[in-house]
Amino acid sequence: CGIVGYIGKKNAYNILINGLKRLEYRGYDSSGIALSNGTTRIYKKQGKISNLEDFVADKRVDGNIGIAHTRWATHGEPSDENAHPHQSQNGKITLVHNGIIENYAILKERLEEKGYTFQSQTDTEVLANLIEYVYNKIDNRSLEEAVRLSLEKVVGAYGIIVMCDDEPKRLVASRKGSPLVIGVGDNEYYIGSDATPLVEYTNQMIYLQDFNIAIIEENSFTLKTIQNNPVTPEIKRVDIQVDQLDKGGYEHYMLKEIYEQPTTIEQSFKGRIAVDGKSIVLGGLIDVMPQLVKAPRIIILGCGTSWHAGLVAEYLIETYCRIPVEVEYASEFRYRTPVINKGDVIIAVSQSGETADTLAAIKKAKEDGAIIIGVCNVVGSSIPRETHAGVYTHAGVEIGVASTKAFTAQVTVLTLMAIQIAKEKGSIDQSEYEILIQEILEVPNKVRVALSKEDKIKSISDKYSDAVNALYLGRGYLFPVALEGALKLKEVSYIHAEGYAAGEMKHGPIALVDDNLPVVAVAPKDHYYEKVVSNIQEVKARKGNVIAVLNEGDLNLKEMVNDFIEIPSCHPAISPLVAVIPLQLLAYHIALNRGCDVDQPRNLAKSVTVE
Ligand code: G6P
Repeated sequence: CGIVGYIGKKNAYNILINGLKRLEYRGYDSSGIALSNGTTRIYKKQGKISNLEDFVADKRVDGNIGIAHTRWATHGEPSDENAHPHQSQNGKITLVHNGIIENYAILKERLEEKGYTFQSQTDTEVLANLIEYVYNKIDNRSLEEAVRLSLEKVVGAYGIIVMCDDEPKRLVASRKGSPLVIGVGDNEYYIGSDATPLVEYTNQMIYLQDFNIAIIEENSFTLKTIQNNPVTPEIKRVDIQVDQLDKGGYEHYMLKEIYEQPTTIEQSFKGRIAVDGKSIVLGGLIDVMPQLVKAPRIIILGCGTSWHAGLVAEYLIETYCRIPVEVEYASEFRYRTPVINKGDVIIAVSQSGETADTLAAIKKAKEDGAIIIGVCNVVGSSIPRETHAGVYTHAGVEIGVASTKAFTAQVTVLTLMAIQIAKEKGSIDQSEYEILIQEILEVPNKVRVALSKEDKIKSISDKYSDAVNALYLGRGYLFPVALEGALKLKEVSYIHAEGYAAGEMKHGPIALVDDNLPVVAVAPKDHYYEKVVSNIQEVKARKGNVIAVLNEGDLNLKEMVNDFIEIPSCHPAISPLVAVIPLQLLAYHIALNRGCDVDQPRNLAKSVTVE
């Protein structure tokens, strides 16, 4: 979910609606807004933010204070009633909430005993009523105090902004687990789940920490802990250019972000590779390099696409550093009883830096004494703040819900990390080290060549858009790429797709092969080539349709398959960065043909701040 708030002299409505649009990638099943000019008016609507705008078009939108929310449903289906903001029973308290109140059922029961009734199925309405109940009970009747005391009773995660009719010139915001950023303007404050809705007004940001409470008025800002201790706000300068947030002439963010990759990959290695191409400096890892070199084991944690980037890193680190690596879904790791030994290093990979499971997993590993390194894209987000060290991926703001440029930036950074650890450890020859650096420097141009095949990919997509299932195959470094290709197709086109290690196909998925099943085989000429070609033969022998991603000039394979997409040849260790490009474009075009909303696929959200 995404939340926005404003307090100042401007009309809040436009700021809040624009802010919601910037945050829509965080959830888009319903949205709502509360505006105050002494009394509070709430408008909420199921569906995209444009539905809310249409609904509000003929309503009053005055007021210089307001809060707003775009939702990704957890408790209760997407509906007008379940949309935020939620109001307490007697209308005194209005709030927006991102996160989950885990003990909401018991709190609700107690409030029902006190005579409260509920309009929605949400955990958030429980919190609104709890704050109202506490507000009415305490002697000094302050919103700040009521929020503080209520949050002491809450188990779970929250980022909240609260308004109170009795204190109409004040907003109270707090967080635990879910992000909140406050933009400091000129006698005005902007609040957002991240900085993107704020950057067009200010570059001065205060990132709230867990258990902070901010009391915000037009001319004053007070920060405290939930224990009522004062905190000195730290104002950070955040430079995000507003044009980064636009589609830049492309039809969709996803396409724009796919096309940005020659630049974003370069951004992720720029300044980290010496001009002579003979060495790498990762400033963020200098302090932990001795531990990395000695690490008995590295555990990589992530979710979704970031987990796939972690899998690529497993192949790289084991090959070049000879350190055992495990890659695990953060959501599993956090609830297992994983064995963490002295010296083990955790690498947390996350575009947003906010994914709740990844954040919780690293907190757990940290308690167990592991060294935590972050590979994140969003500067100042929660995961980098929890780590001992890290490397930002510098891909710029990614808005398309299906990750593209963030993946290639993650893989680039993880590649730099792997070969630099190997170098410091002495497990790679200087010549191989320099060859790999050279290969990385050439990636942007090779990605450009891969992108130039879009027309061909588009015509291939026309043939396969009615598929019900699809299989993606790859080996070695390209096995994670097959997984990522399948995930892209699944996310944006809703075609069921599976990525498989090509050699494993015969143990199950081969049963699916018939003349309706497109099989995408990633088969450049690396040391697995012959093996993948054999697997392609196995598919062909069963009348499957093979779309091969192959190297320019591979006449033999071109003849064997139904369709092919050429990519320039490159070193196997670097090949994921180039081979994934056609798979992103293929997913994009198939989704377009099927009339899907590629930037905001159904049911998904980009930043998943609930577990
Ligand atoms: C969500 C997004 C995915 C993303 C995953 C992990 O599921 O839809 O695109 O890969 O979260 O997000 P993170 O921000 O941690 O990389």
